[in-house]
Amino acid sequence: MDHFLYRDGALYAEDVPVAEIAATVGTPFYVYSTATLLRHYTLFDEALDGMDHLVCYAMKAASNQAILKTLADAGAGMDVVSMGEYLRARAVGVPGDRIVFSGVGKTHEEIRTALTGGIRQFNVESEPEMRAISEVATSLGVVAPITIRVNPDVDAKTHAKIATGKSENKFGIPIARAREVYAEAAALPGLDVIGIDVHIGSQLTQLEPFAAAYSKVAELTETLRADGHNIRRLDLGGGLGIPYTRSNEAPPLPSQYGDLIRETVGHLGCEIEIEPGRLVAGNAGLMISAVIYVKSGEGRDFLILDGAMNDLIRPAMYEAHHDIIPVVEPAPGTEQQPYDIVGPVCESGDTFAKQRMMTPLVSGDLVAFRGAGAYGAVMSSEYNSRPLIPEVLVKGDQFAVIRRRPTFDEMINRDTIPEWL
Ligand code: LLP
Repeated sequence: MDHFLYRDGALYAEDVPVAEIAATVGTPFYVYSTATLLRHYTLFDEALDGMDHLVCYAMKAASNQAILKTLADAGAGMDVVSMGEYLRARAVGVPGDRIVFSGVGKTHEEIRTALTGGIRQFNVESEPEMRAISEVATSLGVVAPITIRVNPDVDAKTHAKIATGKSENKFGIPIARAREVYAEAAALPGLDVIGIDVHIGSQLTQLEPFAAAYSKVAELTETLRADGHNIRRLDLGGGLGIPYTRSNEAPPLPSQYGDLIRETVGHLGCEIEIEPGRLVAGNAGLMISAVIYVKSGEGRDFLILDGAMNDLIRPAMYEAHHDIIPVVEPAPGTEQQPYDIVGPVCESGDTFAKQRMMTPLVSGDLVAFRGAGAYGAVMSSEYNSRPLIPEVLVKGDQFAVIRRRPTFDEMINRDTIPEWL
């Protein structure tokens, strides 16, 4: 459920007409709904009710500081994967003890920054990284809290580019080697080994892969405890999928996911962390774009939009489907026709949808890409020298630009021509 609905024939973001925002900021742009963000965060928080827990929003999904502050003020922790993300979270006042540091390649500089600024735990992904964290911690005279990410060799049944829990993926240590790696970690001077971490992939639309992974983690917890480790925290990752089409079979609800967590690991008495990104932000954001031209091609019509693959890369990168709806609600019974919906970037991959049934549109009409709040703005680029598009946050009847569109000069002037040229 989200807060982007038609009212009297016009698409609204909460209580603000989308067309009004477009008139103010120009197109294309992203718009987020505060109420939807908070609702989704709260669903997860409530799903873990009764267990000691922290929902650490995976801020890679959408990392604008206004979004982070919205969630952090509601009590969310943050899952970060880079120094930039760590500093962004700190910039909006998220305390270090609510920040979890994930990612396969943490550098010495990142480790030092997090240890100095405060960190809840590092989710360690390899033995060399574990040794590096111990070294940096020892040099700073501190002890680093860690979990070790295990790779449970479970098929997440999602797109290959976003599956992470199979043994051929680069993530975590093989679960079969966990005992030996935990033994080494416990012996390192700069580490406090507090738990286990697992994350098997993104956009999971079934609970079974989670169940398989979490059961393996439960078993490992008992084994490691028997080996003498004080396992007291489980980070169960993110990955719960969202409906991208309304006709889609509905993915499991956060409450069902919470029940599964309770069933698989609830008996262990561990503190539970989860790292949802997509489900919090995905359906809390739209990308709004305008039709530049309607072009009649050989046997097909193209809708050429002012938004492109550099602004929303998911269709080009993952063959991802986003519902695209007109900002002016079509009159009931209006006939639809097929369009290829494309952007102006100079490659055929810049195609959002092929033969998508839409009611007729003309130059200047606005369309909204649904489900664009997660992995939308954060994955955008300036390809074709197209400036990053603005982000807008709506709350009730208020809206604000939370990242403005840079000027062409700002973009161009970042380059430097060497003196010798
Ligand atoms: N934790 C870890 C360690 C992760 O790697 C990820 C996502 C998450 C949590 C959050 O997963 P979520 O709840 O959002 O599924 N760009 C791709 C998705 C990449 C996901 C990467 N890792 C897309 O647009 O589909």
